Amino acid sequence: MVRRAAGIQKLTGANAYAAWAEGAEVHLSDGRRLLDLGTWAATVLGHRPPVIVAAVGEQLGSLPAAARGLANPCTPLLARRLAELARPSRLEKAWLGANGADVTEAALKLARLATGRMRVLAVAGGFHGRTLGALAVSDADGCRHELAPLLPEVTICEPTPQALERELARGDVAAVIAEVIPGSSAAVPLPEDLLRRWARSTHEAGALLIVDEVQTGLWRCGQFSLSLALGLDPDAVLLGKTLGGGVMPLSAMLCTARMAARLEDNPFLHSQTFSGHPLACAAGLAYLDAAEDATTRDRGRVAAWLAALRPRLGGHAAVVETGARGLMMGVRFTSAHVAGQFVMAAARLGVLVAPSDADRSVVRILAPLVLGEAQMARAADALDRACAGLAPASGTAPPGGPGPVAAAASTAKD
Ligand SMILES: Cc1ncc(COP(=O)(O)O)c(C=O)c1O
Repeated sequence: MVRRAAGIQKLTGANAYAAWAEGAEVHLSDGRRLLDLGTWAATVLGHRPPVIVAAVGEQLGSLPAAARGLANPCTPLLARRLAELARPSRLEKAWLGANGADVTEAALKLARLATGRMRVLAVAGGFHGRTLGALAVSDADGCRHELAPLLPEVTICEPTPQALERELARGDVAAVIAEVIPGSSAAVPLPEDLLRRWARSTHEAGALLIVDEVQTGLWRCGQFSLSLALGLDPDAVLLGKTLGGGVMPLSAMLCTARMAARLEDNPFLHSQTFSGHPLACAAGLAYLDAAEDATTRDRGRVAAWLAALRPRLGGHAAVVETGARGLMMGVRFTSAHVAGQFVMAAARLGVLVAPSDADRSVVRILAPLVLGEAQMARAADALDRACAGLAPASGTAPPGGPGPVAAAASTAKD
């Protein structure tokens, strides 16, 4: 397992490793620089944003770790700030974790406890993490197929109103979990009418609506929360990745008082050693302070660049579909294998991009706000050339076989 990951890293870095990073660039041990348009969506503000580094440094000098059983000033401030950003909505409470899977687990547990029901409907095409519970509600065959049975009472539901309503009609559903822009899509949001109808049906059936915005939230796609902006009235919104400012691991589940009630009575129903970690919370507070302004200032510029890049990449024979929303673009290739070849070719040409966890034929281009004009021109050129060099119809990875990058790694020579 480690050997394969190391092989991929070796191939991506062409035998060099990441030595340091700043802004949109990662500097390699051999002196080369790569533009980072990947990093699993964790760096909306780029690498080592000075405001985040300063906030973490200050916290490091006072109280880096939580003293269990004692309050600290940082953790509740972050929870309160997140709830303020969610206003006006029913999301008054926050639980903090270290990564996206943590908050998926928290939401699934609290939905079961709040409703007394056990069944969960997961909308097809979604990805929610790799712990066993999060994987059970993820539509990612490649990661699931050897681990079955996963969590019982989970139904992966096709994205049609009829399919969801048929399942809800059984009256035993605790929660519906969905992404507004499915992980398996080429950054194409689900239709707003469909989302609104689902939200209404979910609530009418007495079930809770959990919207996973770990990748798309916190202004990556233009809004603090897409589901709140669309008026879906979710019972929980999941946030993560860039919340730690690209510096610390941090995630948050925002939820209603009803969902939080059992956890408030008994915090041991869901808790972790590092949840609400002061260093991570200091980074989160600094991110929230910086990101809204930075987004207002730079999003138009970077989003316009991605919008212009879309038809350029979409014109290549190996590309089936493209989409873009805010600082996120998705490209669907003719196969997982071709997608893997693209990831490797882009790295060779100086740009890191992110393969999708939910669909191996999809690659995401996740632009940080700090991308300068010259870097945009360099990246567009490299990605265009990477697409141009692809044979459109190479083989497809078998179900459960290696992901796009691993598929490319296994066929490439060291
Ligand atoms: C939408 C979504 N939810 C949850 C997760 C899981 O997050 P993590 O890898 O931090 O556990 C991911 C990861 O890619 C994601 O894209």
